[in-house]
Amino acid sequence: MTQRRKWTAIPGLLLLVIGAVVLSAYSGASSSQGNQPTQPINFPHPRHAGATKDGGLGMNCLYCHNTANKSQDVGMPAVNTCMGCHTIVAAQKPEIQKLAKYYADKRPVPWVRIHKVPEYVHFPHVRHVNAGVTCQTCHGQVQKMAQVYQYASLNMGWCVNCHVNGYDPKEGQKAAGYDNVPPAGYSGGAPYGTPGTRAGISLSSPGMGVVPDSARTTPPATVASNGGATPSVERRRARYDCAACHY
Ligand code: HEC
Ligand code: HEC
Ligand code: HEC
Ligand code: HEC
Ligand code: HEC
Repeated sequence: MTQRRKWTAIPGLLLLVIGAVVLSAYSGASSSQGNQPTQPINFPHPRHAGATKDGGLGMNCLYCHNTANKSQDVGMPAVNTCMGCHTIVAAQKPEIQKLAKYYADKRPVPWVRIHKVPEYVHFPHVRHVNAGVTCQTCHGQVQKMAQVYQYASLNMGWCVNCHVNGYDPKEGQKAAGYDNVPPAGYSGGAPYGTPGTRAGISLSSPGMGVVPDSARTTPPATVASNGGATPSVERRRARYDCAACHY
């Protein structure tokens, strides 16, 4: 190869490299806003996670999505978790009989994944949940969705916007539909929505820990004493260098 030909090859090689990067960027398909696939079992979040005054059981999100505060991935409930109640509850209903069939066959329910970021994006649930970002800030008020859909775009601008501008726990509370009222069992001290406290999650009663309606409508004394305002916390900002999200 002559000196000249070597140099003309470089732009070509560069194009190849850029092409490969773009292709690999697109290879991990991401889901899109509004995405609402039909599920194998018509599971009603409002009946389970909705407030009791709305006819729900007020179940904690973590009762079923029990790794959201522990790991990268949230996890879907095992059939066993459902059968704890449904061996008896509504056992004759057709949707529950479908569930019982998976249980009898020892097969997981093949839930259709709704939210997905591409493989090249690093998204740790645990970091967000433990920083006090409410589930609903990113997922909308799932406890009121007859069928779950993708509420936010999940695109890069959406992530970076919050990391740069910061997260305000008060807005997160509002987004959650908790009317800026701390959950049952919240005893004051560290401001609700800061590390160590869990967004929308009762600290005193793990497992079936629920946010009773009384706690949603009548602020506890500790809150009333400061005018019901969220304790003054700075907006929580996060890293936004490329390597934070792209390994
Ligand atoms: C009784 C168990 C249970 C509880 C409690 C529960 N979920 Fe779910 N969740 C499920 C099941 C089952 C699915 C899959 C079926 C579906 O999409 O409706 C699911 C799906 C989801 C999805 C979509 C997952 C995907 O594929 O992207 C989100 C988001 C979600 N739940 C958030 C929440 C939030 C937020 C709460 C609390 C307000 C909550 N869930 C409470 C069982 C539960
Ligand atoms: C804490 C108890 C409990 C757990 C755990 C639970 N459920 Fe339920 N579920 C209920 C109750 C109570 C109802 C309302 C039953 C009724 O209306 O007769 C219900 C209703 C339902 C219905 C609607 C039935 C119908 O057709 O009206 C479906 C589907 C369902 N549950 C699926 C699930 C799945 C899937 C899981 C596990 C991810 C689960 N449930 C976990 C208590 C529970
Ligand atoms: C900062 C935004 C944010 C918060 C807060 C958040 N999520 Fe997510 N959630 C996402 C994104 C982004 C994805 C897609 C992640 C991926 O593809 O790896 C997702 C995916 C999920 C899934 C599907 C996971 C799977 O394996 O199928 C469930 C279920 C879920 N979230 C539930 C929750 C629950 C419950 C909470 C609160 C305890 C919560 N999320 C808090 C952004 C968020
Ligand atoms: C509503 C606000 C909000 C949104 C939206 C959001 N984040 Fe975050 N993110 C945070 C907060 C708050 C932290 C915690 C910072 C801490 O622990 O100090 C965080 C932390 C992180 C971390 C850990 C950074 C580190 O310090 O190592 C990663 C990675 C991350 N987010 C990725 C994402 C991605 C990818 C998305 C979009 C799919 C996203 N985030 C959307 C608020 C948000
Ligand atoms: C807070 C998290 C976050 C940070 C910081 C971040 N990205 Fe991203 N990036 C994402 C997410 C999420 C996607 C996937 C977007 C989608 O699926 O639409 C993405 C997608 C991309 C893509 C694929 C292009 C596309 O639209 O498909 C490229 C290239 C990229 N990012 C480069 C960068 C560079 C360069 C930086 C630093 C300047 C950066 N990112 C910083 C979250 C982040």
